[in-house]
Amino acid sequence: MRVAVLVSGRGTNLQALLDAEARGELAPAEIVCVVSNRPGAAALERARAAGKPAITIDHKAFADRAGFEDALLEALAGHGADAVVLAGFMRVLTPRFVDAYPSRIVNTHPALSPAFPGTDAAGQALRHGVKLTGVTVHFVDAGVDTGPIIAQRAVPVLPGDDAATLQHRIQAEEHRLLPRVVRALAAGRITCEGRRVDVATTDHADELL
Ligand code: GAR
Repeated sequence: MRVAVLVSGRGTNLQALLDAEARGELAPAEIVCVVSNRPGAAALERARAAGKPAITIDHKAFADRAGFEDALLEALAGHGADAVVLAGFMRVLTPRFVDAYPSRIVNTHPALSPAFPGTDAAGQALRHGVKLTGVTVHFVDAGVDTGPIIAQRAVPVLPGDDAATLQHRIQAEEHRLLPRVVRALAAGRITCEGRRVDVATTDHADELL
């Protein structure tokens, strides 16, 4: 499975994917390009350092979403991508883009969906006063962090947490989970019917992912 990773920011999830690939833990998935909608995103430097094509497609350079997504689709096709991972990519995708990769676009979100979609999920969790939050890796639909859920991990909210410390602890979990989901997807172990996602286990793992 040839994976394009879309990013907007720091790229720590991209780094987790690159590191997993370097350890041989992402196969049969292969990262074929990294695309940022933000010029100068730190994630692009991580991609270059790993020898991956690092592409900027600035959404602000386009009059509308359709134009931006046309450029995105063209870049992905140019690298032969057949799956897409959103790793801190902070743009909503239209149905036209989503339909181009059916059950082949995954996103990681730092909350237990359907709670706290959108930006600043850790801050939202703190303000709401939940005792448990976490990370959700899900298929992407045209909503904001709403698609069918593939895997979740819980993270406790600790006394004294601020948004930064909580986000840091959530990220440690998502850095473990996202590469496992990508590997399972590439291995054909993930099936989706409506909102229900099934992850088949491997012979030797007691965990699903
Ligand atoms: C990640 O925590 C990701 O879950 C979140 O952005 C962060 C990007 O960090 N995504 C969302 O909030 C999507 N709604 P990174 O650039 O260091 O990977």
